[in-house]
Amino acid sequence: MSSQQRFTITAALPYTNGPVHIGHLAGVYVPADIYARYQRLLGNDVAFICGSDEHGVPITIKAKKEGITPQELVNRYHKIIGDSFKEFGITFDNYSRTSAQIHHDTASAFFTKLYDDGKFIEQVTEQLYDPEADQFLADRFVVGTCPKCGNPESYGDQCEKCGTSHNATDLIDPKSAITGNTPELKETRHWFLPLDQYSDWLKEWIVDGHASDWKSNVLGQVKSWITDGLHPRAVTRDLDWGIPVPVNGADGKVLYVWFDAPIGYISATKEWATREGKNWEDYWKNEDTQLLHFIGKDNIVFHCIIFPAMLKAHGDFILPENVPANEFLNLEDDKISTSRNWAVWLHEYLEDFPDQQDVLRYVLTANAPETKDNNFTWKDFQARNNNELVANLGNFVNRVIVLTNKYYDGIVPQTQDLDSRDTELLELIKTYPDKIGKSVEQFRFRESLNQLMQLSSLGNKYIAEEGLEPWKLVKTEPQKVQNIMYVCLQLTTALAILSEPFLPHTSTKLKNMLNYSAQDVESTSWNHVAGLEPLLPANHKINKAALLFSRIEDEQVQAQLEKLQATKAANLGSAETKSNLMPQKEETNYDDFMKMDLRVGEILTAERMPKTDKLMVMTVDTGIDKRTIVSGIAQHFEATDLVGRKVTVLANLAPRKLRGVESQGMILLAEDPEGKLVFVNPDDAVVNGATIA
Ligand code: MF3
Ligand code: ZN
Repeated sequence: MSSQQRFTITAALPYTNGPVHIGHLAGVYVPADIYARYQRLLGNDVAFICGSDEHGVPITIKAKKEGITPQELVNRYHKIIGDSFKEFGITFDNYSRTSAQIHHDTASAFFTKLYDDGKFIEQVTEQLYDPEADQFLADRFVVGTCPKCGNPESYGDQCEKCGTSHNATDLIDPKSAITGNTPELKETRHWFLPLDQYSDWLKEWIVDGHASDWKSNVLGQVKSWITDGLHPRAVTRDLDWGIPVPVNGADGKVLYVWFDAPIGYISATKEWATREGKNWEDYWKNEDTQLLHFIGKDNIVFHCIIFPAMLKAHGDFILPENVPANEFLNLEDDKISTSRNWAVWLHEYLEDFPDQQDVLRYVLTANAPETKDNNFTWKDFQARNNNELVANLGNFVNRVIVLTNKYYDGIVPQTQDLDSRDTELLELIKTYPDKIGKSVEQFRFRESLNQLMQLSSLGNKYIAEEGLEPWKLVKTEPQKVQNIMYVCLQLTTALAILSEPFLPHTSTKLKNMLNYSAQDVESTSWNHVAGLEPLLPANHKINKAALLFSRIEDEQVQAQLEKLQATKAANLGSAETKSNLMPQKEETNYDDFMKMDLRVGEILTAERMPKTDKLMVMTVDTGIDKRTIVSGIAQHFEATDLVGRKVTVLANLAPRKLRGVESQGMILLAEDPEGKLVFVNPDDAVVNGATIA
């Protein structure tokens, strides 16, 4: 056996301003859990660390809205999140929280060391201040236009659209999120981490050193930040919720949430080590330990630039070996959003689909946003369950267990004269631990799950091969059937072992049905699959079949879709949506308005412009002529839905060329705050060319 390796595996600490949803699970927690379980099955030493991220502005805003204290709010979500992770089968060695005393102590000490070592720049600068709220506006207390991508709803510390992290004073046209006022500038003292001083080092370590083993989405973001130039970042804030800055004369100031939260990985490891009688330093200071951060793409800058710079400045800690960040998961073609309640919440899923944790784990892994954003739909969820889990894995296992009980009273039969088909399959099974493991080690979880399902398909093919089905041969060729069932039982045992990282509840059920206990084969059961010993020896007695997966019916899917529909309806009437409406434009006058030639037209032909996603080329009958109009609506409408439609046309708009095609006018559309487009529809009875004023 190769020597034991040590892993510190962290999963991003979820914010406790809401429950956990499928986007979090697919991006971070499911892959991290697969990885941790896999390393444990290899017999490696694993600390799998997580906890609640309980500081930061959104928590104070939400608590204020509900009229409770931030601590009450985080207590509520810490419990919901922690309980649902557990029930879902995420095997954190410790799920801690950043309001814990051990974390306050650890983060304070970390700051103090950097302070004492002169690693910070202390500076009085002008920061955004809202006099009405009597408060400095950091992070989510301020909204404005992103200086990099122009997103008008960027937060003070980060733009969610382009992912850039910036200072609140960089925002164009900032507004207070508390009062809506335009903030003033007011002087205040803060401590800055001079990231610019770490730029060369970061480049050498990541861009040059990890060019081949880090994911390209992660490398891409890191490169672009370094190329754009790193700047000193304030690591303290003028707020009253957080960890007090442990320096004299810093009253009313706390550590920036992104300074304290990643230190939470260290505090949570300490808490665990104390409980388990281990030495936490082995997991954070020993160069032999592999530190891995599982995160979503919006966390890349913090885990690849800021936290490593903090660790480097501190000097005592190891750096991450890899930061396998995922992209985002959408839900039914729409961005998942906690504030818009557009999500499938884990705790609700567990209520609606009791005892079906593995179905969600399966779908989220099979469809994981590993290299690009992906979409979750309830239809796909149903199809994957019914066609893959039920029809492939469930079906195979059920046949094997039922037939073994029926033919042999549950006793694994003896073999004799195995033929080449049997021995080839037995040999092939042995290649799977390595195959699946290689993919997991490269963070290719979709691929690894696919391989697991391949193994089950092989089993189905083997047991149902034309002319060789055991249920047809059992009377005439009993020894051959014994051989077949023996091989199937080995394969089922392999599935029981190799499915554990992906489908842990299923794995347990399978092991129970097989009466298989890992203790028989010591701890490193993963590699046991490739060993010389049979996985399930002849004469071993198995148990009766139990249900592994059941079909998901249309009504269940319908109920989920209706729930989402209700959310959509509620959002349309909500204050938030109303506040997203565009404010009234500047005053205009009658003469200017009358200059516009608005008329009723009809779309005669429509065709998507080749090689573009958005542009639709249409011929429109304006009554006075037939002309070409190009419009950016191709992502919203099918060409066939447009032909024959009456539309409102601005006829005297100066022509302009779009991708070489001259557009002679404009079709009027209404856009709702969610970005959905609808036509401004004239009545069908109106004649083409009728004027509008
Ligand atoms: N709470 C953050 C988020 O949900 C993640 C924090 S990760 C840590 O995006 F490193 F700061 F802990
Ligand atoms: Zn931006």
